[in-house]
Amino acid sequence: MKISPNSAALSVAALLLAACGPAPSIQPDRVTPYRLTNQAGMEVTLLNYGATLQSIKVPDRAGKLGDVLLGFDVLDGYKGTHPYFGAIVGRYGNRIAKGRFTLNGVEYKLATNDKTNHLHGGLKGFDKAFWRAREAGPNAIEFTYVSADGEEGYPGTLTAKVTYTITEANELRIAYEASSDKGTVVNLTNHAYFNLAGTGDILKHELLLKADRFTPVDAGLIPTGELRAVSGTPFDFTNATAVGARIAANDEQIKLGGGYDHNFVLTAGASAEPALAAQVYDPSSGRVLEVLTTEPGVQFYTGNFLDGTIKGKGGVSYGKNAALCLETQHFPDSPNQPSFPSAVLKGGSSYRSTTVFRFSRR
Ligand code: BGC
Repeated sequence: MKISPNSAALSVAALLLAACGPAPSIQPDRVTPYRLTNQAGMEVTLLNYGATLQSIKVPDRAGKLGDVLLGFDVLDGYKGTHPYFGAIVGRYGNRIAKGRFTLNGVEYKLATNDKTNHLHGGLKGFDKAFWRAREAGPNAIEFTYVSADGEEGYPGTLTAKVTYTITEANELRIAYEASSDKGTVVNLTNHAYFNLAGTGDILKHELLLKADRFTPVDAGLIPTGELRAVSGTPFDFTNATAVGARIAANDEQIKLGGGYDHNFVLTAGASAEPALAAQVYDPSSGRVLEVLTTEPGVQFYTGNFLDGTIKGKGGVSYGKNAALCLETQHFPDSPNQPSFPSAVLKGGSSYRSTTVFRFSRR
């Protein structure tokens, strides 16, 4: 297994950083790539900006390597406007209604960046921050970001660490850790946009979700508080089903999302060890992705807001349904929904979460 900064944009500073930890010559505000590879032929490129997953190259059924993530070839593209391609989102991934919540009797007002709601950490979330990078073993890179007390309205200085590790079993493990000096709310996830074919749309990808219920939403995509059975609805992925099979169904929730843009309640619940949450199979390439997590929920989003205006890798315009996201998480708006698993992090205690993306082929 090898770790090396991506040769395309390799700087001496990056090489020093990957090899020896922070060096005085590092330009902390330069988007710098890091690469993890294994003997099985998997290649992963990460960026210090947003602790972003820039590419994942895995073999198809014929053994041909292909990139399964949407994003940009030119690294500065990540600093422009885009819908969180591959980034770590935080301090609170997903929506908080009206950008408000009350903790220990104090009401906090967050930045609102999704109409009247707060989404993915606000105007300048963790996706738009430079993280400090450090080699964390022969096959791992650790990114650290310190979010100041009051940033985007959140209480407490939060130190967040995200460690990406690859294994010889073609797994990418993402370990999240955080601690705060004051009570706060935390919900970290990775916003990778997957297309296992590496081209076209994901409507023929077959999805299995280990979820018997989902959280229906209102017109602002805020959960109503109900946990609704998926059985008999277009949200039933308990048996593998093509993503496109019911995506245009005459269903109130599908219409509100413009497709799938919903949190699924994982049957395993919050678990100590990552449990299987989802499996995606692309019949055209033979690639399989399994998502395992310790989180109680997963946001299944079918790229409904992609409208062709963003040109990504290879100059391709990303249109509606060009990719799907499986964002492992606590449920949206948990800080305002007492019946949902709590996303509160007490001052002095630590937050931990792990998600694994495991690739194989059929
Ligand atoms: C949300 C979508 C949003 C997308 C990009 C997803 O996590 O659920 O509603 O459009 O992120 O911001």
